[in-house]
Amino acid sequence: MVKIINRRNSIVYLVNKNYVIKKYNYKFSIHEEIQQYNKLTELVSNHSIFNIPRIYYSNEKYNFFRFEYIDGSRLDKIFNNSKIIILEKLKEEFLRFFARSADKGYQFDLDPSNLIMKNIGYIYIIDPICEKIDIEHHSIIVFTFGLIKLYLKNIYKINPVKFFRIWNSYYDGYIQYRNLKASELNNEMEIYIDKVIYWNTFENFNSSIFNGIIRKLIYVPIYIIIKYIFKYNLLGL
Ligand SMILES: Nc1ncnc2c1ncn2[C@@H]1O[C@H](COP(=O)(O)OP(=O)(O)O)[C@@H](O)[C@H]1O
Ligand SMILES: [Mg+2]
Repeated sequence: MVKIINRRNSIVYLVNKNYVIKKYNYKFSIHEEIQQYNKLTELVSNHSIFNIPRIYYSNEKYNFFRFEYIDGSRLDKIFNNSKIIILEKLKEEFLRFFARSADKGYQFDLDPSNLIMKNIGYIYIIDPICEKIDIEHHSIIVFTFGLIKLYLKNIYKINPVKFFRIWNSYYDGYIQYRNLKASELNNEMEIYIDKVIYWNTFENFNSSIFNGIIRKLIYVPIYIIIKYIFKYNLLGL
């Protein structure tokens, strides 16, 4: 049985419990994705909790590759009050990883939907490709913004106080770990949210018209509000 997932920039075929085939359209290339995996290999070697799927075969001409199927749960799918605690436990490792990718100048798409947890605490990074953005602390920004998006989608499932406490322990934890000023990270968050707004407003997705309307009428205004929260430091960090 082949399950097909049609995504913005790619089609993913879940072939069986052994492997997955991913084919890109015009925007990204398999070549870039493999380069990203190579950078990740270097980074994850220093971490016990992070892993990447094995690549079995790649074909640059037809822009596809075959890689290991990760039998686990995507971090965004398990997001509820009890599972969110896992993020607390993994915080030190995550922050160290974010810091190292910033030091190397690497940018990966570390949105929680690209992180699959296999067994408790083992995180596989899939789909690391992303557009380069002119910010230094890309990983923490993408991850914590991803958590906000997730919270908004699960607003009835997650206790806001609990969510904000964990979110803040990542965001503020990183600020302290790297000895940054809150305003420096907030500026980068603003730049990133502007990009997200741009993507959601102007980019053509191969999704439905309905989806496009939701994106413009609901997500974009919410993102604008979130942007101002960071701009005026309304979180009081
Ligand atoms: N190696 C894999 N193992 C298990 N599931 C996968 C794997 N690769 C992709 N998927 C599933 O397919 C979805 C889309 O794949 P992804 O690589 O994130 O594509 P996109 O670039 O379009 O975001 C993922 O969110 C995940 O659910
Ligand atoms: Mg993805």
